Amino acid sequence: MRHLPARKAGRRVVGALAAGLLCAAGLATPAAMAAPPRAPAGPTLDDGLALTPPMGFNNWNSTHCRAEFNEAMVKGIADIFVSKGLKAAGYEYVNLDDCWALPERDADGKLVPDPVRFPSGIKAIADYVHAKGLKLGIYTSAGTKTCNRAGFPGALGHEYSDAQQFADWGVDYLKYDNCNNQGVDAKLRYTTMRDALRAASEKTGRPIVYSICEWGQNKPWEWAADVGHLWRTTGDISDSWGSMLSILKKNLPLAQYAGPGRWNDPDMLEVGNGGMTDTEYRTHFSMWSVMSAPLLIGTDLRKASDATFDILGNKEVIAVDQDPLGKQGTVLSSEGGRWVVVKEMRDGSRVVALFNETGSAQRIATTAEAVGLPKAPAYSLRDLWQHKGFETAGQISASVPAHGTVLFRVSADRRWVKNPPAAELAVQGSALLEAGKQTVLTTTLTDLGRAPATRASVALTGPEGWTVRATSGTSAPLLPSGRTLRTTWKVTAPADTPPGSYDLSLESAYRSLTGQRISMSLPVTTSVVVAPPTGTSALGDLQWLTAANGFGPAERNTSNGESAAGDGHPITIGGAVYASGLGVHAESTIDYYTGKTCETVTADVGVDDEKGTRGTVSFEIWADGTKVASTGILTNAMPAQPLSADVTAAQVVRLRVTDGADGIDSDHADWADAKLSC
Ligand code: GLA
Repeated sequence: MRHLPARKAGRRVVGALAAGLLCAAGLATPAAMAAPPRAPAGPTLDDGLALTPPMGFNNWNSTHCRAEFNEAMVKGIADIFVSKGLKAAGYEYVNLDDCWALPERDADGKLVPDPVRFPSGIKAIADYVHAKGLKLGIYTSAGTKTCNRAGFPGALGHEYSDAQQFADWGVDYLKYDNCNNQGVDAKLRYTTMRDALRAASEKTGRPIVYSICEWGQNKPWEWAADVGHLWRTTGDISDSWGSMLSILKKNLPLAQYAGPGRWNDPDMLEVGNGGMTDTEYRTHFSMWSVMSAPLLIGTDLRKASDATFDILGNKEVIAVDQDPLGKQGTVLSSEGGRWVVVKEMRDGSRVVALFNETGSAQRIATTAEAVGLPKAPAYSLRDLWQHKGFETAGQISASVPAHGTVLFRVSADRRWVKNPPAAELAVQGSALLEAGKQTVLTTTLTDLGRAPATRASVALTGPEGWTVRATSGTSAPLLPSGRTLRTTWKVTAPADTPPGSYDLSLESAYRSLTGQRISMSLPVTTSVVVAPPTGTSALGDLQWLTAANGFGPAERNTSNGESAAGDGHPITIGGAVYASGLGVHAESTIDYYTGKTCETVTADVGVDDEKGTRGTVSFEIWADGTKVASTGILTNAMPAQPLSADVTAAQVVRLRVTDGADGIDSDHADWADAKLSC
């Protein structure tokens, strides 16, 4: 292996001054006020490998063990890496996951590639991939068998011979899983393979990147920096918003352990697999990059859409992930699901992710000083998804769509002078309307730059048949730094508009002093709602505004079955069965429109019996922005607990279930017999 000089672990720490300012501004969460991130402690492998997070492909998320995982696929991906510019963008490793081998070793104890999937053998695949300037990765388990039910051979007790076989084939990367480990100490198992890989690659001269996949069970971030180059921090990702989000939240606090040659691995990408929207996939890709995570594409690129290629091929975002300083981004604030995550870059700039966890558009804001930049008259602000450059006098803010992420790279350099001022376009007021009734919305266009904007204008349009009328000015010849063009609008949906979600479109345009024209647009999602009936209603039968749920959809009058709608069972808590209520899975949020006409919410809440003993959740009731009732942590062992809340004068009532602070696994939560009185 090539030996490079040890990298100096010196890191700048965000100034105490910035932290103080944050406190004063009331923006900081406990995460932001925690001890500043330390430089990773202890030795690393120091072999010059994986100095930036590995990038490439792995078949698992798209194929699992299905037959389409084969030689043709692997070659096809390598071809696409080259033809579609992904190799040029930095993707390098083409990795095989479980099921590439036959279940039995040969008479000499050697691994045998499955002759149906890989008729030419692994060496031939490696040669093919190498000829394209790419690298090949392989998989096995630190156990007696791999994870698949068919039970392919694992490397426990065969470490040296298997590592030698991989090295002889020309393998460049090993993912080493954790199944069937026979209870042998993890550190021992993973260190033995490290030594075996080192011995084998010393013979062949081909270094091997070593990916530890023990799912974060033994806190590898605390001991594996000189064992492997990356380590999984969580269980497996799946192609859903809830899965991606829960993994993101587990990986974010581990920032201090990452650095060149030692990466936290929140699992492979799901971008393109169809279970999330493109907005959600952009969030997935943005946040993995801000976390300096390995970028292993997990979709079959032979079938991928243009949108998928646009996301995976975004070089400005890839540059965030691959920054040579190797600092994982840290959380500055996360109040109300409005996340500000900041990554320091080698050139001194900061990448700022404004990430909206919630199901509705949110304004998310911070400042250049709060993200650790020195005081300056103005800053360059680059939007990494829109590929546009602006200048800001210091504010970094945007209206971020539901589940979206706005990604800015902000620098305190003099180049800001050449850029047009940044502006923030936003909507205030409730986006809930009753059909046929006039509602007032206010829009704002604010110059965030040091320089003024000129010829600023806004326009709001509704769906066909809607009336949208401005009742104040829609243009301003000059918008100086920090000033706002504020416009009020009267919006009316036709009386027969069915309840549901409708998009209005807010457009704005302005010019810089040098005449550059900037246009912005913002979808304004409104909901046409119906006032709740007078008297007491069962919430399981009322229409909700929005519902978000950890696994599968929230269910009416049954428990949550985790996948398809209607797959639940009768709601059962502590042996008591309930005919009505809501069955959800943490993390869950259900919003009801109450239109300031209701008084109380009541329910018997608890963890459904169907999941045995592992569920832990807590229940909360919110009236508009205020938590008005909550339980402590409830477990499967507890009977249902009555919960009630006064919701007088609330426009919207929210029923929320959180994970009991231990992840969402098995958290089947019931709002049994839930009722709303109006
Ligand atoms: C485990 C790993 C996955 C995948 C499968 C293969 O679940 O965590 O990433 O490799 O095994 O069986």
